[in-house]
Amino acid sequence: MKGKKILIGVCGSIAAYKIPELVRLFIKADAEVKVVLTPAATQFVSPLVLATLSKHNVGVELSSNHEWANHVMLGRWADIMLVAPASVNTIAKMATGLCDNLLLSVYLSATCPIMVAPAMDEDMFNHPSFKQNLATLQSYGNVIVDSEHGELASGLIGYGRMAEPITLFQHVAHFLEAKKKLKGKKALVTAGPTYENLDPVRFIGNYSSGKMGIAIAEKLADEGCEVTLVLGPSSLKTNHPLVTTIAVRSAADMYEACMAHFERCDIAVMSAAVADYTPASVADEKIKKKDGELQLTLTKTKDILKQLGTIKKEHQRLIGFALETSNERSYALNKLTEKNADMIVMNSLKEEGAGFAHDTNKVTIFGKNGTEYASTLKSKAAIAGDIVQKIIESLS
Ligand code: CTP
Repeated sequence: MKGKKILIGVCGSIAAYKIPELVRLFIKADAEVKVVLTPAATQFVSPLVLATLSKHNVGVELSSNHEWANHVMLGRWADIMLVAPASVNTIAKMATGLCDNLLLSVYLSATCPIMVAPAMDEDMFNHPSFKQNLATLQSYGNVIVDSEHGELASGLIGYGRMAEPITLFQHVAHFLEAKKKLKGKKALVTAGPTYENLDPVRFIGNYSSGKMGIAIAEKLADEGCEVTLVLGPSSLKTNHPLVTTIAVRSAADMYEACMAHFERCDIAVMSAAVADYTPASVADEKIKKKDGELQLTLTKTKDILKQLGTIKKEHQRLIGFALETSNERSYALNKLTEKNADMIVMNSLKEEGAGFAHDTNKVTIFGKNGTEYASTLKSKAAIAGDIVQKIIESLS
């Protein structure tokens, strides 16, 4: 834990009295701790105690004394944000994206992993709205530290008690240690669409947003991997410190960038929606409208995944995608063998909530040794986590 940066978000719950003890455990393990509280939390635990133990000012308000609290930088500073105790109210706000205090604005802008330790009475714990909100947080990729069974603030015995400080400490320590499974590895990831120019004002493109590929690049980087992201035209980007982005436009640009970087990589994930055809020639001037039909001649682009499959070395793992609208399984399995990939991630546009236009996805991952893993519908970040997990397994 030495030097790890832990940001604790404390909500208004009786369990907040345990947080000074948790801060001490982190400090004793040589971690650096900062704390933000909701206004309600200040009724349960003293900001002065937390500031003294953490050796940092604590944050409660978005602004005070005409100074703005830089919530973005707090989330960037941290290696992990632990929301503990996470009250039912704050969990509901986190799930719906409400942002009416400092803790929530840090949560919404945080780029680090998030861990959530709920605390509440059993009747609240059993309410379907809470269960749904918790599932939503999980679908965002947040890690939940389950509440425990025991004596509750109401005097009743049941579920809802926040995990003890030592348990929270162990969860954070395990998460941060376990997270670096790809340290020292290098990866190449393609993402987004490609645009094939027709003339100075027109191109042939597709609906890919790049979200899935960017999520994969970030998850690989979270595991300590150094990632080169070859990104087609996309409005999205990543600021992950371990991801270097190379912006490209056409399938040919993407091919060149991949060929330049593949050799030094251990992992290559080809998630871009690459054009299969490109105009045979690009008009220098805008193509003018004429009577009758316009015929375009298209030539085949180079298949990047297939090419990498032919030069792949024993230690390298090559992962492709298959976006299908029919005969999904057989097409995906064909791509696995034809392109000499180690894994093919299949998405079907027929699945509700899957594909280009969504924040969620549902995939089946086929491994070359006959393995098959079918995910549920979840956030693209959570799907990226599954893919990275399969990559880690294939390397070990
Ligand atoms: N791919 C690639 N280079 C291309 C075309 C595709 O690297 N010129 C990669 C994609 O990034 C993806 C995989 O190949 O990982 C499959 O892409 P997909 O579009 O599903 O299949 P295609 O091979 O293009 O075949 P088809 O369009 O006929 O399904």
